Amino acid sequence: MSFGRMPIANGFLTREQFATEYFFDLQVGFCESCGMVQLTERVDRERLFNETYPFFTSTSSRMVKHFTEFADEIRTRHLTSSDPLVVEIGSNDGTLLSSFAKAGQRHLGIEPSSNVAEEARRRGVQTLCAFFDESLAKRIASEHGPADVLVGANVMCHIPDLHAVAKGARVLLKPEGVLVFEDPYLGEIVQKVSYDQIYDEHVFYFSLGSLSRLFEQYDLEVYDVRPLEEHGGSMRYYVGRKGRHAVSSAVEDLRAHERALGLHRRDTYETLRTRIERSRDALKDLLVRLRKEGKRIVGYGATSKSTTVTNYCGITPDLVEFVSDTTPIKQGKYTPGVHIPVRPHGEFSARYPDCALLFAWNHAGEIMAKEPQFRAAGGRWIVYVPQVQILS
Ligand code: TMP
Repeated sequence: MSFGRMPIANGFLTREQFATEYFFDLQVGFCESCGMVQLTERVDRERLFNETYPFFTSTSSRMVKHFTEFADEIRTRHLTSSDPLVVEIGSNDGTLLSSFAKAGQRHLGIEPSSNVAEEARRRGVQTLCAFFDESLAKRIASEHGPADVLVGANVMCHIPDLHAVAKGARVLLKPEGVLVFEDPYLGEIVQKVSYDQIYDEHVFYFSLGSLSRLFEQYDLEVYDVRPLEEHGGSMRYYVGRKGRHAVSSAVEDLRAHERALGLHRRDTYETLRTRIERSRDALKDLLVRLRKEGKRIVGYGATSKSTTVTNYCGITPDLVEFVSDTTPIKQGKYTPGVHIPVRPHGEFSARYPDCALLFAWNHAGEIMAKEPQFRAAGGRWIVYVPQVQILS
C-alpha cells in the first residue's frame, strides 16, 4: 500500500528548512512467503538517528513507569547469575537502564543518536553511541563478557538488518541468555486501523509468525510473549536459544489469535487498506466540517505517528492551528511536510480551542487525566483510532 510522498516523521523543522525538506515514498508491503509486513523503501538511518533526534523517552511519565516495571521484571526474571550484564539496543535517554545504573549493576546502552546518548550519560548510564550489529556485539562480548539479557524497546522494528541483530544476539548472549524486546504489534494495527504506526522509522510491523520464521534461521525461538498497552498496542517477545527455555502457552495462544486475524493472508491487508482509506476520508471530512462551523482545532502531541496522519489525510494549518507539545526541542518548529506550528502546552491552556485533535492517542489516559479543565471549558477531543469520532 502506498501513502504517497512523506517527509521524515520526526523531522520537525524551522521555516528556513522548508525548501530543502526531504521526502520519500512511504509504502508498506506484505511478504507471503515469510509473513513479514515491512516498508518497501527505506530512509538512510543517519537521516533518522543523529544528533538532533527529538524523541526523549522520559517526557512521558507513563513510559517512565512502564520502563521502571520492565527493569524490575528483567532483574527478577533474567538477571539471576552473579554480577550479570544487561545490554540495551536503542537505549535513548537511559530511562530503562537508569534503574540498573542506580542499583550498581553492570549495564551498557547502545544508542546511535548522540544527543539522547549524552543525556543518558548525564544520568549515569553507560552508553556507547553506535548502531548495534554483529561486529559491535563481538566487541562488547570481548570487552565486557557475555550478556545475560539483550533488551530493546521500540527499536527492533527500526533496524533494517534484523539478521545482523539475530546474529549479534547469538554472539553476545550467554547460552541461557535472553533477547527480550517490545514493539508495536501488527495484530493491533490491523484491529485498530492504527495506520499511523506506519512511518520511516518503523521498517517492520512484527507478528509472532514473522518473527518466529526469522529467529528459527539462527536456532533461536520465541519462547514467551506478553501483550502490552504501550504505543497503542505492543507485544513483548522473549527469545532464547532453541530448547533452552520452556515455551509458554501464551505463544500457542498468540499463534491461534494471529491465524484468526488472518495475519498470514494477503486479503487481510487488502481489507486493511480499504479501512485506512475510509478512516482518512472520515477524519478529513470531520475537520473540514468543524472549520466551516468556525471551530478552532488544535493538535495535541506532535508525535512521529502524526506525520503520517497529517500528510496522508492532508491536514494543513488551515485545519489545525498549531500542535501543542511538551518537548522543548520541537517547540517553535513546524511539523514535517504540512508545516503546522508546534507550540508549548502553555499556549493550549492559555486559550483553549473548541477541539483538540489527539495525535498522541496512545497516551490518552494520561492526557485526559491531566486536562479536565479543557473539558470543563467545553473543549472536545477528536480521536481517529480505532475510529474517527468526537468524544462525548
Ligand atoms: P509518542 O507517542 O511517540 O510517545 O510521542 C508523544 C509526543 O507527545 C511527544 O512529543 C510528547 C508529547 N506529549 C505531550 O505533548 N503531552 C503529553 O502529555 C504527553 C504524554 C506527550
